[in-house]
Amino acid sequence: ENVGNVKRQLAKLFEVSLPATVPSETDIVPLVDACIVKSGVRFGDYQCNNAMGIWSKIRGEETEFRGPAAVGQAIMNNLPPSDMVESCSVAGPGFVNVVLSRNWIAQSLIKMLIDGIDTWAPRLPIKRAVVDFSSPNIAKEMHVGHLRSTIIGDTFARMLEFSHVEVLRRNHVGDWGTQFGMLIEFLFEKFPNPEDVKEAAIGDLQTFYKASKVRFDSDPEFKHRAQQAVVRLQGGEDKYHKAWKQICEISRTEFHRVYERLGVKLEEKGESFYNPYIPGVLEELNKKGMIEDNEGARVIFVPGIKIPLIVVKSDGGYNYASTDLAALRYRINEEKAEWIIYLTDVGQQQHFDMLFKAAKRAGWLPADDGSYPKATHVGFGLVLGEDGKRFRTRSSEVVRLADLLDEAKNRSKTALLERDTAKEWPEEEVEKTSQAVGYGAVKYADLKNNKLTNYTFNFDQMLNDKGNTAVYLLYAHARICSIIRKSGKDIEEVKRNAKMALDHEDERALGLHLVQFSEVVEEACINLLPNVLCEYLYNLSEIFTKKFYSNCQVVGSAEESSRLLLCEATATVMRKCFHLLGIEPVYKI
Ligand code: ARG
Repeated sequence: ENVGNVKRQLAKLFEVSLPATVPSETDIVPLVDACIVKSGVRFGDYQCNNAMGIWSKIRGEETEFRGPAAVGQAIMNNLPPSDMVESCSVAGPGFVNVVLSRNWIAQSLIKMLIDGIDTWAPRLPIKRAVVDFSSPNIAKEMHVGHLRSTIIGDTFARMLEFSHVEVLRRNHVGDWGTQFGMLIEFLFEKFPNPEDVKEAAIGDLQTFYKASKVRFDSDPEFKHRAQQAVVRLQGGEDKYHKAWKQICEISRTEFHRVYERLGVKLEEKGESFYNPYIPGVLEELNKKGMIEDNEGARVIFVPGIKIPLIVVKSDGGYNYASTDLAALRYRINEEKAEWIIYLTDVGQQQHFDMLFKAAKRAGWLPADDGSYPKATHVGFGLVLGEDGKRFRTRSSEVVRLADLLDEAKNRSKTALLERDTAKEWPEEEVEKTSQAVGYGAVKYADLKNNKLTNYTFNFDQMLNDKGNTAVYLLYAHARICSIIRKSGKDIEEVKRNAKMALDHEDERALGLHLVQFSEVVEEACINLLPNVLCEYLYNLSEIFTKKFYSNCQVVGSAEESSRLLLCEATATVMRKCFHLLGIEPVYKI
């Protein structure tokens, strides 16, 4: 049970009140929402919206109620007493507004500070999930599309892990397929002695890939050898297998450098891993009568889509789809994952749509009724340059991730060194902070968008220290830490002894926003919307700075201890948000 979730705690009260109000209607699920302030008018912090629905069901029958407002009134009167609630009122057609008790909010915050914010973690109805993310292709450069997948996927994994779900972080790298024939033959040509193959010798794998492609397209004899090489590789011939491994290893080293910098953990199970499972899976689907011949290929048709999913190409080879079928089955049956989440650009939407429909036809996944296991594809938009076109460098090359991260870091370092305070910092600290800020900015700029939209990559915007950016948020957090430091108080001591009062309305507003953390994470996680968490974090920072800190003196005031606790609670929640977004916090500016 999640004690941090205010909405659920309130819903429990309504679970008592609703059946008491209308015993004739069983299974009414309480609809409790956090109130959004509209035009400055606000009657409560939460609202129960069941009255109208109930009224529309019972209005024809003989009933004591005269309308939805009366139903709302009765729901309110039947609420069991609770120390969560300060007052209730009924508005309009039966909306029951609840004002939370200040004391209860303060108690919840103190409890969180003492027991730790993990006690506010959401509880999800599943034990294990697969997040399939990043998944670049061997020998091809990781590009900004893979960056989006890496950043968004990592956040999903982090939110699920926080919610006590075991997450298998899967890097479904493209390490199998016909391009390897070409790469291997090219490798043999360039390095007749396998000992000479080293990362340094090959240099840039992307350039190597391009050169081999030129060779492949221009020389029929080479092309023929490359095609043979695929067969020999897939037949398991030692020399070919070794060369394949060498190429994969070089790519892997390169990918890992990026993951390391981003602080992202991934476990590789590439396409090649599932290859041995494909024949069995296709056999099973064939027995189920799902596979047909179509223009020389073997295909599966799924409801609602005209084109079929090709599972065996006309040359007899397997492909991306057959691999994904085997992987999906493996994840469900062997790994017992209850939720399988894939992150790629929206261009692959149809592929996953067909894949999941095929899995439903095969009975691996239940119909779309919200039950588990469940598979979800999260498609994201393109990363655009400032010219509104696909993000590329001047020479219209794909932007290399390593360069992009370098630039983000260097720019934030320059900005940092312009501040007087940072001038005296040790080099190590400057490095650490500029990395946290630079990489954090790249991540946040991506995560704050609705994932489906294209987004424009703009260093100046993402590194601005005003506005909705990681820089602004990280600095806001550092400032809170410095308020606490300046008080000279030992915050652990304050936690143990002080009481918190939320008498000022801005203290209360901040406290209320803080106790809503848990329900926001739950929503972001269940609906796979990191932008919801970003928005919460940004609002938290705004309420702290523009309301609380502008109007309530902390250090030196009569309420100092209580307000320090509020600062500490804010910093704690902000840090957890940063953590979930994969951003390293900064404590000092
Ligand atoms: N390697 C693919 C790409 O770069 C992404 C793989 C996504 N995962 C999957 N199971 N298909 O586009």
